[in-house]
Amino acid sequence: MPNTSQCRVCPGQVGEFFDFGRQPVADAFVSPGGAQEEFFYRLRVGACSSCTMVQLMEEVDRQRMFHEGYPYVSSGSSVMRSHFEGMAKHFLTSELTGKDPFIVELGSNDGIMLKTIADAGVRHLGVEPSGGVAEMAKAKGIRVRNDFFEESVALDILENDGQADVIYAANTLSHIAYVDSIFSGVARLLAPGGVFVFEDPYWADIVERTSFDQIYDEHFFLFTATSVQTVVTRFGLELVDVERLPTHGGEVRYTLAHRGTRTPSPAVAELVEWERGLWLTDPETLRAFGENADRNKAELVALLRRLRDEGKRVVGYGATAKSATVTNFCGLDSDLVEFISDSTPFKQGTLSPGAHIPVRAPEAFADPYPDYALLFAWNHAEEIMAKEKAFRDAGGRWILYIPDVRVV
Ligand code: SAM
Ligand code: TMP
Ligand code: ZN
Repeated sequence: MPNTSQCRVCPGQVGEFFDFGRQPVADAFVSPGGAQEEFFYRLRVGACSSCTMVQLMEEVDRQRMFHEGYPYVSSGSSVMRSHFEGMAKHFLTSELTGKDPFIVELGSNDGIMLKTIADAGVRHLGVEPSGGVAEMAKAKGIRVRNDFFEESVALDILENDGQADVIYAANTLSHIAYVDSIFSGVARLLAPGGVFVFEDPYWADIVERTSFDQIYDEHFFLFTATSVQTVVTRFGLELVDVERLPTHGGEVRYTLAHRGTRTPSPAVAELVEWERGLWLTDPETLRAFGENADRNKAELVALLRRLRDEGKRVVGYGATAKSATVTNFCGLDSDLVEFISDSTPFKQGTLSPGAHIPVRAPEAFADPYPDYALLFAWNHAEEIMAKEKAFRDAGGRWILYIPDVRVV
């Protein structure tokens, strides 16, 4: 298999730096006893030697990932609910203040952000290809177009609804390999004084924490301020603000505007400068990242085998998309992790992708509590550990593997 590929956002070449092996679609939960055949691809990640964009070497078809049965429901976390309510309120008071303002959200999911906008009576449109979650949003009174956003869809929205004052995308832009079509669509749809705001996992945090499980089919791009700034200029857009966020294990919120329409905040140059000093796509950094991922894998597997041999019960917590990378890369199965507890009804009663670990409702977690809980949803650690205080009080222990393997 060639270890270079064509960069998706510039004419440069992407050099592979890590291979996670054969992986399933991270959100493709399997029905037990079902006859469906699982799809696998090779999860390899690289960095472009020209524009520095970190990206997957192989793209999974979008219809395989985002469809009627896409199981990720955004509103499962109370922390994320308040995060998006805060974002919506910010837009309402700072950007959506003109006459008949209009906001478009890409990847609106179950309406976690647009609900606040709809309740305020502001004109909006969610663009969401996954039918199940789109219906959940519609049931909340939110206007949703069940489609993949891309340039042709942007032009259609422009014709029907006019220009958008705000275009927003959380944990969605990084999911889209054809991101050039998104940027050209945004450049057409965005009003002259408007902003395109998106937030996604931050490559600097992934390197710093060895959060190797942020790498899976849906996370096609792993952005930095440097790579985003380089790419967007081609579309007449400019990076005018950046903000580091604690959500999902470390993210950056990028604000773009039409070039020359807003004065860039000093935070942009500061973050780009800081990234330069970190050598984020230097061969040595990328080699060390791979070594750290291999070390975490070896230590996690050794710990889980030891606990099994001692007769301890270990249950996974949170059947995250990230956990597909962990379970398949580490070769975990229900012999080492009895089941995974997850609050999402769509995921309960299924088997995890590839590894086929049963997924059960949270009631099973407490019936009775296991000795150890392997926290796959480590990005929600604070919320989950507070909610599961009784588990800890009963003598249970959490296993973490990001940034390193430890029991707390
Ligand atoms: N914005 C929500 C959040 O942050 O919780 C949902 C994030 S979810 C990880 C990614 C969403 O992007 C999915 O609901 C998926 O269906 C949607 N998506 C994927 N490709 C898209 C596209 N081309 N246009 C709009 N949404 C897309
Ligand atoms: P995420 O890390 O991609 O947001 O996925 C979190 C997963 O963890 C999702 O399937 C819901 C699940 N979850 C729980 O089971 N309990 C919880 O308290 C939280 C916050 C999430
Ligand atoms: Zn490139």
